[in-house]
Amino acid sequence: MSDGQIAGSAAVHGDGINDAEHGEMNWVLATDRLTKRFGQLTAVSAVTFSVAHGEAFGILGRNGAGKTTLIKMLTTLLPPTSGSASVAGHDLVREAAAVRRLIGYVPQGLSSDADLTARENLQILAALYDIPRAQRPARIQSILSLVGLEDAANRLVKTYSGGMTRRLEIGQAMLHRPPLLFLDEPTVGLDPVAREAIWNHVQQLRAEFGVAVCLTTHYMDEAQHLCSRFMVLRNGAAVAIGTLAELRAAASLPDASLDDLFGYFTEGPAAQEMHGG
Ligand SMILES: Nc1ncnc2c1ncn2[C@@H]1O[C@H](COP(=O)(O)OP(=O)(O)OP(=O)(O)O)[C@@H](O)[C@H]1O
Ligand SMILES: [Mg+2]
Repeated sequence: MSDGQIAGSAAVHGDGINDAEHGEMNWVLATDRLTKRFGQLTAVSAVTFSVAHGEAFGILGRNGAGKTTLIKMLTTLLPPTSGSASVAGHDLVREAAAVRRLIGYVPQGLSSDADLTARENLQILAALYDIPRAQRPARIQSILSLVGLEDAANRLVKTYSGGMTRRLEIGQAMLHRPPLLFLDEPTVGLDPVAREAIWNHVQQLRAEFGVAVCLTTHYMDEAQHLCSRFMVLRNGAAVAIGTLAELRAAASLPDASLDDLFGYFTEGPAAQEMHGG
């Protein structure tokens, strides 16, 4: 049995959330032993997890744990070495074009063109996403309003603060109203007020469009605020998957905070044991 399976089954199947019971179509995202190797290094190791429609799912792990590599595979930007995944029933590899239409992606690095205005960035993406020409102005306006950038829409992005740029990127990723949104460290480097603004926009998107969100973060307060289930990656393997209550049960730490559990699963003796170290 692999490392991921041991902890995964402890956390996931202990409290009733079970893929086999629910059937594949209830999941907007499902992976099966998804793996990525770079030469000798296994960056993502046989990771199996599912995200329900409308769910907010947190991917946690220390620097280099494999979070971005996992998201790059799930957004079709990196081919898996082995294993499989599907988005709303579409195979990640065989139906990559369909998958790309069903997802939005806010990468860890900046992705807006700083030499254009917010509106221009959105216009380019509206064309890329094949949004009908007649619908584009209204769609762009509604996204600008959703992320609070109406007043700044005609300013060059290079004059934006970090928080404004991040909000634009989230807007860009939601322009085609995908059912699944990937956010890779959405609030890194932002001040507390800007972070909370991002949280509010993400919650608003979920309320308005029912979008499922898969996010990585190093801030446990952020993960706990936004997400109802979590996966902890360690050296590429999933060492725990579940709700806060399920993670507490798996760790036998009934009062632990998410911070405590992060420490337990990523560096505590239990983590060593799970990896046979
Ligand atoms: N293109 C690549 N070629 C070789 N190794 C890579 C490549 N991309 C990532 N890696 C390695 O894979 C491992 C996982 O990296 P990844 O970026 O997925 O981690 P992460 O969990 O996102 O970390 P962080 O929290 O720092 O963003 C690291 O050891 C990294 O050096
Ligand atoms: Mg990363």
